[in-house]
Amino acid sequence: MTWDVRMRNNMFRRLPVEQATGRLYGGRHRLRVVYRTRDLIVLGLGVMIGSGIFKISGEQAAATAGPSVIISFLIAGGVCFLAALSYAELSSIVPVAGSAYSFSYVAFGEIWAWVVGWALVLELLLAASVVARAWSLYATQALADFAVPVPSWLAGIIGQEKGFDLFAFGILVLLITMLATGSRMSLRSLWFMVMAKLIVIGLVVATGLKFFHAGNLTPFVPPERPAPAGATTVLDAVLGAVTGSKPGVFGVWGIFAAAPAIAFAYIGFDLIATASEETDDAPRKVPRGMLTSLAIAVVLYVAVAVAMVGMVSTDRLDPAKPLLATAFGLVGADSMGKIIDVGAVLALTTVILVVLISLTRVVFSMSRDGLLPRPIAGMSRFRVPSRATLVAGGAAVVMSQTINVLTLEQMVVIGTLFAFLFVSAGVLALRRDRPDLHRPFRVPAAPVTAVATILATGWLMLNLKVQTWGYFTVWMVAGVLIYLVYGRRKSQMKLLLDAPPPERPVAARMEAPPPGPYVPGARPSTPAPESPYPTGRYSAGRRPGGADPAQDAAEPPAADPYALDPGVPNPFASGPHPAGRHGADRFAPSPYEGGRYGTGPYTRDPYVQDPYVQEPYEDGEREEPPSPGGRHRR
Ligand code: ALA
Repeated sequence: MTWDVRMRNNMFRRLPVEQATGRLYGGRHRLRVVYRTRDLIVLGLGVMIGSGIFKISGEQAAATAGPSVIISFLIAGGVCFLAALSYAELSSIVPVAGSAYSFSYVAFGEIWAWVVGWALVLELLLAASVVARAWSLYATQALADFAVPVPSWLAGIIGQEKGFDLFAFGILVLLITMLATGSRMSLRSLWFMVMAKLIVIGLVVATGLKFFHAGNLTPFVPPERPAPAGATTVLDAVLGAVTGSKPGVFGVWGIFAAAPAIAFAYIGFDLIATASEETDDAPRKVPRGMLTSLAIAVVLYVAVAVAMVGMVSTDRLDPAKPLLATAFGLVGADSMGKIIDVGAVLALTTVILVVLISLTRVVFSMSRDGLLPRPIAGMSRFRVPSRATLVAGGAAVVMSQTINVLTLEQMVVIGTLFAFLFVSAGVLALRRDRPDLHRPFRVPAAPVTAVATILATGWLMLNLKVQTWGYFTVWMVAGVLIYLVYGRRKSQMKLLLDAPPPERPVAARMEAPPPGPYVPGARPSTPAPESPYPTGRYSAGRRPGGADPAQDAAEPPAADPYALDPGVPNPFASGPHPAGRHGADRFAPSPYEGGRYGTGPYTRDPYVQDPYVQEPYEDGEREEPPSPGGRHRR
């Protein structure tokens, strides 16, 4: 088998950076530019501040770590910050919608990209479903707290932990519809809701600190207790096998066991990278937006954790009840319960919204690359990937209604942490393989930082439940099978490598005769360039200065192998050449012509918006610079 064929079938074929960013082949169906740095910060806070802080933090304090959950917040925040540095560097090099999926395509090759993309799909599908369920719980609680009468037929289908839930269904359908009709509208709503939830978080911290008692923080690390059934982590299992120890909660290990669950609260900074294609000057603004929003989230979360565990002893909290509201109830600040209900409903709305945005961008990128069916990459007239929105959103709706997703929060975390591993390793791989790339953001002390990120992320993963690892393995095996059956054959990279290289007939390299009717033996009016063909009639060595009729008569020139044959229509004659759009390459068979998807990858197809169609831009929106090398210019 030749090298060429091996490359074409190679599952490790890499997407060149220049192609990923569209610089080489022109626009790759780029999305509309809508985000500025401050939008990205709002986007980050919109997706981070959600059920992680309102629900999971209290559960972990009550069931796993006690007051030392504050340390769990710092550990999870620290690992996420390390990972964010790697995300920032790679999104400054490859600012495209696929985030970790695209980074892995560039750094490691297609199969790894698929595996990471598949893990991201798991993370985001489940996150949307889990948070939609949590939204329903808080919305139902809010109706009860505000004494809104609920008819009995409705009471049985809202605020349900499993089975059909009208609120979870309704919120998902509403947001999917908003997204499918243009992200500008959703961006405005996002700003409003994020500001409202920041006010609620501020109130929680301020009120909680009013009731702070240092005594509630002791013992800061409660003594270890046996873990309940089903809570065994992989680390517990390994230690149990080696040392015979029993799995436990609280104690020092409890701090680490709570950290990955708490990482759920930080999930979202990574999703900012999926907005790169919609961000003006993404290589600079995406890293800035990502790191700033994560830093704000770490400060807010630690403040909430301190306020929460300082208000009441964690022994008095019941992990099965809404913890923050219960804590305020216990200190007599009942009205905070209502404020938290409203804050949580708003907060969770923005989480679902941004998770759905990111999910659709990842699915869009994978479809655009042919690893998922390419028609999914279709764009609507709003220049949003409406088909990806409907397909991915539909899957989230089905998942939220058919699976007991509230027990699967850790699956969201494992998918995210898996992507962290590849992103930090990707920094190392690209520093080694493409040191020439311009990096507007660079990870400080990259080798040390990236290796530390990999180790810390791996440690968090070991602290996830055995059951989570089991489900994750099943999901990934299914993903690899899908790739082998579908993506491997349909990949646009494969089509690119399969396409025959454009061949240029020798005539195309010669100077073109003047336009007009073909005249056998006609010569160019200007001196011919030095010919690389020694026997040619224009050989500079034989006839310096060009044609000489006297010399021709005395010594007929050798037959010109490159002369135009009078029997063949003159391609230089005036009139459109069949492939005339390709200018200088008009003799080359175009790999971008013909067929619905063309024989060449990234060709214009009916499902995809032509990025070169001029469209009116809204106020304050900058026109995208023309892409060098664009193929679809008209
Ligand atoms: N960070 C998001 C939340 O906590 C996923 O809901």
